[in-house]
Amino acid sequence: MPLNGQSSFKAATKKPGARIGRERVENTLRISEEQYRVLFQINPQPMWVYDLETLQFLAVNDAAIEHHGYSREELLAMTIKDLRPPEEVPRLAEYLPRAGEGLNLWGEWRHRKKDGTEINVEITFHNITWLGRPSRLVLVKDITDHKRALKALEDAEQKFRSIFENAVVGMFQTTEEGRLLTANLALARIYGYESPGDLMRSVNNINKLYVDPPGRAEFLRRLSERGAAWGFEAQHYRKDGSVIWVLESARAVRDSTGKVLYFEGSVQSITDRKRAEETLRELSGRVLQLQDEERRHLARELHDSTAQDLSIMARNLRRLSESRSLDPGVDKILSETLEMAEKCTRGVRTLSYLLHPPLLDEVGLVCALGWYVRGFTQRSGIRVEVVTPTEYRRLPGELERTLFRIVQESLTNVHRHSGSRTASIELVLDTDRVKLEVRDEGRGIPCETLKKFHAGGVGLGVGVAGMRERVRQLGGRLDLESNGSGTVVRATLPLQGARA
Ligand SMILES: Nc1ncnc2c1ncn2[C@@H]1O[C@H](COP(=O)(O)OP(=O)(O)OP(=O)(O)O)[C@@H](O)[C@H]1O
Ligand SMILES: [Mg+2]
Repeated sequence: MPLNGQSSFKAATKKPGARIGRERVENTLRISEEQYRVLFQINPQPMWVYDLETLQFLAVNDAAIEHHGYSREELLAMTIKDLRPPEEVPRLAEYLPRAGEGLNLWGEWRHRKKDGTEINVEITFHNITWLGRPSRLVLVKDITDHKRALKALEDAEQKFRSIFENAVVGMFQTTEEGRLLTANLALARIYGYESPGDLMRSVNNINKLYVDPPGRAEFLRRLSERGAAWGFEAQHYRKDGSVIWVLESARAVRDSTGKVLYFEGSVQSITDRKRAEETLRELSGRVLQLQDEERRHLARELHDSTAQDLSIMARNLRRLSESRSLDPGVDKILSETLEMAEKCTRGVRTLSYLLHPPLLDEVGLVCALGWYVRGFTQRSGIRVEVVTPTEYRRLPGELERTLFRIVQESLTNVHRHSGSRTASIELVLDTDRVKLEVRDEGRGIPCETLKKFHAGGVGLGVGVAGMRERVRQLGGRLDLESNGSGTVVRATLPLQGARA
């Protein structure tokens, strides 16, 4: 049956060969027309035929009716102009004569549906003869959703590009070998380059930026083992050869088989922070040194002056009380005062020794520890076991003073906080380092305090922070281990570098 009961596709069918009989030809044509009609009518994409002169619709398929919302009768009474928003009509007039042989791709247009919504369509057509008139067979593809998705993608890309380009943090993508694939402006600026292009042209391999190549190897090892490396501190070269501190983070981006495609990550310059930390370290080192000098000065004053005066006073009082000519009431006052003066003398001496044990300078750490621990046990009732190397050799003064202060501070903490009745001190001397451990069997350091210590120490008391700083000044490390059954304070210090 012909389309709309009227005609047939003439351009779409080929003339049968001359040798085929007329009847057979007509039969074939009829079957062929029937098939084309079905193909046209049930095609899932909107299709129509319009008259090239009047622009009137001559035939429309079901998908066009459903898609554009008009009935077949309505569409057949319209021209293709009626389907366009008014602003598209001039372009339509301009495009109409542009048609070549065969299939024509007309590109993107806008259509207006019956309900007024506008859609984006892609038009493909074929010029044909329809009802003996020059016509056009049109295939319409709705690309509205596709365009919307594309726009959303573009917007998202634009957004991320903007974040990437304007970030204050340097961002990069590199190959596994270290070749830069992408860099943003911040990254270029960190290394002293004008633009990302400038950086990428000059630095062909980021491995060369590292002042310390084993540092790079360590970074890559973490990346390959854990798939990511966060907060890695390293020193890098800038364009002018100067050295900066950076904080680098990266992760490996892999394909579905797990193969590494590239690394991506960020770089932040932390040179200012490092400088501030350095200044702070120098400053706290100086404060600790001043504190020690002050203590030593106070200790000497107390010992040489106050304690001497007090003992002269006590001696005079003793002499007085020995003369028998005194009134019994006065005698009693005198002996009480004498007792007090002697107590004060002992107190001032002890205070002086605690501030700065003279034994520490004179005979060394092991003797000073023995003396200090005996006094500590007397004052606190806590039994302390001391294990020191049998062949102890004197260490640089600074080291001995630090170790003594750690014992002093740790034992004070045992007494004040642990509730333990016992403690132990162990000093181990190796060829290149010294290790000191102070243990107790008390209730342990509260979790929160321990967390603060591991996170860097802000909010701790002066005791632990001071110990850590003293140890750091000498290039060593302080560790705290603690649980419900006790605490271990462990200081490990290198023997090289400490002052006498
Ligand atoms: N041996 C210990 N057993 C249990 N808790 C401890 C021990 N040593 C330290 N702590 C805990 O750690 C905290 C921090 O100790 P730190 O010596 O820094 O400060 P502090 O002793 O409170 O005050 P100070 O500044 O006078 O030393 C203590 O307040 C205590 O809660
Ligand atoms: Mg303390």
